[in-house]
Amino acid sequence: MIPENIDDIIRRQFDKTLNSTNFTALGEFYEGKVRDNYIKGDVRIIIATDRLSAFDRVITTIPFKGQMLNQISSFWFEKTKHLVKNHIITIPDPNVAVVHQCEMIPVEMIVRAYITGSAWRAYTKGETTSGIILPKGLRKNQRLDDIILTPSTKAESGHDIYISREKILNDNMVDKDIYAQMEEASYKLFKFAQNYCYKNDLILVDTKYEFGLKDGELLVTDEIHTQDSSRFWISNSYDERLAKGEEPEILDKEIFRGWLMDTYPDIFPNIAPSQKIPPISSQIKIELAKTYMKSYKKITGSEFKPEVSDVKERMVKNLKKANYL
Ligand SMILES: Nc1ncnc2c1ncn2[C@@H]1O[C@H](COP(=O)(O)OP(=O)(O)OP(=O)(O)O)[C@@H](O)[C@H]1O
Ligand SMILES: [Mg+2]
Repeated sequence: MIPENIDDIIRRQFDKTLNSTNFTALGEFYEGKVRDNYIKGDVRIIIATDRLSAFDRVITTIPFKGQMLNQISSFWFEKTKHLVKNHIITIPDPNVAVVHQCEMIPVEMIVRAYITGSAWRAYTKGETTSGIILPKGLRKNQRLDDIILTPSTKAESGHDIYISREKILNDNMVDKDIYAQMEEASYKLFKFAQNYCYKNDLILVDTKYEFGLKDGELLVTDEIHTQDSSRFWISNSYDERLAKGEEPEILDKEIFRGWLMDTYPDIFPNIAPSQKIPPISSQIKIELAKTYMKSYKKITGSEFKPEVSDVKERMVKNLKKANYL
C-alpha cells in the first residue's frame, strides 16, 4: 500500500477540526483565544482547540494543532514532574488536560537565555526589564551570560507589565518563601528543557511559567514549553545568522503572520477588532499544519502521527469513558 500523502491527510481533516466547544456539563466556561476551560470544584478541564490566533485575533483552525500543542505541554509536564510538581491530573484525550484548579499566583515568571523581543526593545531605549541591569554593548538576539528572570503581572489588555523582584516582595504580592520556590522551579524547568532542546538542534530562547497553589503547595500550571508560551530558534543556523546580522530561524507562526501581511496588506497587521477575517487559503493551512508537525518532532524528538477523525466526537467519547461527561 502506498502511504497516503501528508497533504491529503491534512486536507481530509479540514472539516473535522475543533473550533469551539459547548460542554456545559463540564462546569463553568472560560474561553481563551486558543483554549476552552471548564471549571467545576477543584477540577479544571483545559481543551486545546485547533484555533489559530495572530495579531490578537482568532483567524482560522489548523488540523491537529490543538492536539499537538496539548501533547507537547503534556510531554514536558511528564518529563519534568520529578523536578517540579505540576497541575496535571490526567490526559483523557489528545486535546484535553484535566488539572487541579489552583489559586493562581498573580505574577508570571518569564525566563530568558537570550536578549530579544520586548527585553531587547527596552534595552535599546536604555530601559531595564523587571529592574534587571544588563551589560552594555549587547547585540540583538545575543545569548546572555546568565539566564535571567523577568517577572510580570498579567494586564487586562493582555500585554505584560514587568515588575521587579523587590517590588513583588516589598508589596507582598507573593509570599517570600513561595516566591523563592517559584524562582527555583523556573530555573530548574528552564535548564532541563534547554538541555533537552539543544540535543534536538533547538534553542529554547525564552519562556513563561504560571504557578498556582493547591492546598498550600506550589504547582506549575497552565502550559509549559509550547510554541504559544515559548520562543524556539533552530540552533545550527544561529551563529551564522547572528554573525551576518540576520534574524534566527524560528518555529511556527511567523510564516503565517508574513502570509497574512503579504496577502492582505490593507488588513494586517493592524486589523480592527470588528473587522471580518478574510479567506484563508487551504495551501497556507496545510503548510502551517506541516510546520507544527515539524516543530512537534523537533521539540519532543518523536514523529507526530496524524489520524483523521472528528475531534469533537472522539473527545466526547473519551470524556465519557473517563467519567467527566
Ligand atoms: N491549574 C490552574 N488553575 C487555575 N487556573 C489556571 C490553571 N492553569 C491555567 N490557569 C489559567 O487558566 C487560564 C487559561 O486561559 P487561556 O490560556 O486559555 O486564555 P488566556 O490566558 O486568558 O488568554 P490567551 O488566549 O491569550 O492565552 C489562564 O488565565 C491561566 O492562568
Ligand atoms: Mg493563556
